[in-house]
Amino acid sequence: MNVFWAPSGELPKEASSPEEIARFVVEAAVHAPSVHNTQPWWFSHSGSEISVHADVERRLAVADPNGREMMISCGAALFTARVALRYLGLVPAVRLLPDPDLPNLVARIGWRDHTPPVDYERQLFTEIPRRRTHRGGFEDEPLPASLLSALREEAAREHATLRILGDDGQRATLAALVEAADHALRLDSARVKEESRWTPPPGSQRRDGVPATAYPARPERTEPSFPSRDFAHGHGWGLPPGGEIAMPRSAGLVTVLSTAADRPEDWVNAGEALQRVLLLASASGVSAALHSQPLELVQLRDFIAEHLCGGAQPQMIMRFGTTGQSSVSVRRRVDEVLL
Ligand SMILES: Cc1cc2nc3c(=O)[nH]c(=O)nc-3n(C[C@H](O)[C@H](O)[C@H](O)COP(=O)(O)O)c2cc1C
Repeated sequence: MNVFWAPSGELPKEASSPEEIARFVVEAAVHAPSVHNTQPWWFSHSGSEISVHADVERRLAVADPNGREMMISCGAALFTARVALRYLGLVPAVRLLPDPDLPNLVARIGWRDHTPPVDYERQLFTEIPRRRTHRGGFEDEPLPASLLSALREEAAREHATLRILGDDGQRATLAALVEAADHALRLDSARVKEESRWTPPPGSQRRDGVPATAYPARPERTEPSFPSRDFAHGHGWGLPPGGEIAMPRSAGLVTVLSTAADRPEDWVNAGEALQRVLLLASASGVSAALHSQPLELVQLRDFIAEHLCGGAQPQMIMRFGTTGQSSVSVRRRVDEVLL
């Protein structure tokens, strides 16, 4: 039985042992977003405790030499695991890295106390498998102010800051940086080679990487222009256009997620904040497009820190909005990641 889809919100009776709870939680956690869908994590379990580990073999050696994006991805999985525990009425107790004996340990999540989940926690849980990264433009309508403050508050709960770029000049500057970075990455053969290892061709049976069902064959232009990564590498892969590609569409609400410092634990916090805001947005019918291109280039990242983040460390660029489009991603099975 696929307990993840349990519609009533009740934990099936047979999934009440620590082993079954661990499986349930990991089944949810693997839905977290990760850079190029590398899913750079594995999980272990002992008694009433799950450990989240970074799978360094899956780190992008060229694009992510310090493992920052790997840790953000693991932080997103950690937050998802927390939501799944809450859905079961269990209270997660998280101990974050570091553990000198286990350098790739991200966190241990224990559970002992019980408190029934509130509606909001159930809602976030429901969004875990529904949320998908969007690549393109959005409807040209502003998001409610109440959602904007809620997104900011959710990020703050995870020790991160969600900066909303309300100024046209700032939005244009950030768009230009994404465009410049995207161009530079396309010209860097080592990066292109690395990215192409995570972009399987259509029809691939792989359960990781960015499949051709996850991006449009003809990228949609936005105003200002925030180009998507070239996952198809000139092969023409991707979802066929639904109709005529007309005028550039809205770039949506443009934001930067940042943390005060830039240590591995800050990256994990950023990942938790990322998934927290993505799930809240999804629960409100709002999708997000992610851009990490300029954050993979030191000078551009420093520029964004200084000029757009007041000196804080930028961890992710996100655009939010509504769209009728949907994409399909893939994930490895629980048995492959719960060891
Ligand atoms: C650290 C990080 C960086 C990412 N950078 C990008 C990016 O630059 N462009 C993009 O389209 N998606 C980006 N993503 C989204 C991933 O590609 C996406 O989460 C993954 O393919 C799984 O698909 P899903 O989010 O639809 O489930 C990023 C995600 C993370 C966690």
